[in-house]
Amino acid sequence: MGRSFGRLEDRVIISVAGKGGTGKTTIAVLILKTLIEETSKTILFVDADPSTNAPVVLNIPIKKTVGEVVEEFRKTVLDTTELGVDKSRIVEKWVMEVLMESPRFDLLAMGRGEGEGCYCYVNSVLTSILDKLASNYDVVIMDMEAGLEHISRRTERDVDIMFVVTDPSRMSLETAKRIKELIPEVHVEIRRLYIIGNKIPHGEFESYASKVGEFDLQLIGIVPPDPEILNFSVKGLSLLNIPDNSPSYEAVKNICRKVRLI
Ligand SMILES: Nc1ncnc2c1ncn2[C@@H]1O[C@H](COP(=O)(O)OP(=O)(O)OP(=O)(O)O)[C@@H](O)[C@H]1O
Ligand SMILES: [Mg+2]
Repeated sequence: MGRSFGRLEDRVIISVAGKGGTGKTTIAVLILKTLIEETSKTILFVDADPSTNAPVVLNIPIKKTVGEVVEEFRKTVLDTTELGVDKSRIVEKWVMEVLMESPRFDLLAMGRGEGEGCYCYVNSVLTSILDKLASNYDVVIMDMEAGLEHISRRTERDVDIMFVVTDPSRMSLETAKRIKELIPEVHVEIRRLYIIGNKIPHGEFESYASKVGEFDLQLIGIVPPDPEILNFSVKGLSLLNIPDNSPSYEAVKNICRKVRLI
């Protein structure tokens, strides 16, 4: 996929958040599959979860994470005070090297920084590089870290659509509600926020929708429990290759249609 910097155009930033284990990575990858199969859009998939699960689900071996790059940069370049070159260009080059390119989408794994504390310089350079990188794609899909941390730490960015994935548990809806409440406090703009009820059988749509309504949240659709997902995970196959008639994929495709992503 092409990767010249700074192409200006309307792009859609999608983030997939929610409580741990609800199915964020699964749903994010099924959204990716939908966009690959139903559009010709250029796509950046960002694994923003420090535990870096998406490459496993996608069956793409990653070379390095952005976190590791930042750590290397901190240990080597930042200490070299006399360096005559623009340090932000070095970070930029390194980030480009960890970008995994494939014919239909690129993948960036954020990973985690090893050290403690705030590397304000590195972080601000990184933020601008990621913004520049993101502007090169039609769609950016971000598979977020579980829970609320990414919002309270302000690593969340302005996004067009945030899908908060919930499951049958009440806890997952509590987390979704907290996410919604935290957003105005941290001054990030989430233009649309929808709940996706994952692992909910089709027959339970009505009762689940009313439960979501009690939390004052908007349910956009449900994704049924799908044995094919487990099958693919056990075999270590990329979830992108799940059959097109799988109920989970059909459900996610429908949701994408509803929110006009396709
Ligand atoms: N609709 C579904 N049907 C069957 N299994 C599912 C479904 N959605 C997710 N799973 C399974 O549930 C488990 C958790 O899913 P996943 O890893 O996508 O959740 P997550 O929210 O990304 O987790 P984490 O918080 O650890 O990042 C996985 O084993 C996945 O295969
Ligand atoms: Mg995950």
